[in-house]
Amino acid sequence: MATILITGAAGSIGTAVTPLLRAAGHRLRLLDVTPPSASGPADEVLLASATDDAAMHAAAAGTDLVVHLASHAAERTWRQIVDLNVESARVALDAARDAGSAILLASSVHAAGFVPSDEAGDGMPRARPDTYYGFSKVVSEALGDLYADRFGMRIVNARIMTFGDRPHTARSRSTWLSAADFARVVEAALTAPVGNAIVWGVSANTRRTVSLEPGRAIGYEPQDDAEAHVHALAAELGLASPDDIPPVGSDPLGGIFVDLPLGGPGP
Ligand SMILES: NC(=O)c1ccc[n+]([C@@H]2O[C@H](COP(=O)([O-])OP(=O)(O)OC[C@H]3O[C@@H](n4cnc5c(N)ncnc54)[C@H](O)[C@@H]3O)[C@@H](O)[C@H]2O)c1
Repeated sequence: MATILITGAAGSIGTAVTPLLRAAGHRLRLLDVTPPSASGPADEVLLASATDDAAMHAAAAGTDLVVHLASHAAERTWRQIVDLNVESARVALDAARDAGSAILLASSVHAAGFVPSDEAGDGMPRARPDTYYGFSKVVSEALGDLYADRFGMRIVNARIMTFGDRPHTARSRSTWLSAADFARVVEAALTAPVGNAIVWGVSANTRRTVSLEPGRAIGYEPQDDAEAHVHALAAELGLASPDDIPPVGSDPLGGIFVDLPLGGPGP
C-alpha cells in the first residue's frame, strides 16, 4: 500500500483511475482547483493549484509517488501553456524531490506528434512536438532528465496516447489507453528505478505502432486491447465492418493536432 498524490485529480484520467487505485489499497491525496467527483471518504482532497509551490510541497510530504496530471490537456496560447503546463511540471518535481517521492509525469504523444506512425520504431522516437501543448510535454521530459541526473530521482514520463473508456476514432484503434492500463503505469512508477524513464502510455492494442518495450523496462505490462471494441467502434463510425476502419498507415502520431493552429484552442 502506497500514499499517492494525484494532481489534476478532477480531470478525465484522474476521475477514472482514482477508484482503481483506491481499490488496489492505496491511500490517495487528490489535488485540483475543482473538487474531484471521484473522491471517497478515505481520500484527502486538496483544493489548490499545482503551480503553488507551498501547497504542492505540503501535498507531496509523506507520499511515495506524485502522479502529476494537472495541465491544459490540449492546445492553448503560449502564455497559458507556459504558466500552467511548464510551471506545474517544475513545481511538481521540486515537491516530489523534497518529499523523497517518485513521480509520474503525464507526457503526451503530442511530444512526438510529427513522427510518422509507421516510423515510431522499437524504442522511443525523439521529441517532435506538434503544438505548444506538445512542446510543454517535451519540457516535462527534459525536466525529468534534469531532476533525475541532478538529484537521483525516480521519474517516469508517460507519453499518454488516447485515454478513454474505449476507442472512439479510427486512430485510437492504435492509440487507446484504458484506465486499468493507466493504473498499471502508476503501479510501475511506484517501483521504477532511479532515472527518467520515457514510456508509451498505450494499451496492448494489436494495431499499435509504438513499442511496449520502454514500458516493460519499468514493469509496465498493459492488458487491454482496442480490438475488443472494434465492433462498437465500426458502428460508431457508421462502417459496416471493423475491416472498413482505416489503418493509421504513415499518418503522424499526433493525428489532427499537427494541423491545429499553433496557440489556438485545441479540441
Ligand atoms: N486524456 C488524454 O487522452 C491524454 C493524452 C495525453 C496526455 N494527457 C495528459 O494527461 C493529463 C490528464 O489529462 P486529462 O485528460 O485528465 O485532462 P483534463 O483536462 O480532463 O484534466 C485536467 C485537470 O487539471 C486540473 N487543473 C487545471 N489547472 C490546474 C491547476 N492550476 N492546479 C491543479 N489542477 C489543475 C483541471 O481542473 C482538470 O481537473 C494531462 O497532463 C494531459 O496533458 C492526456
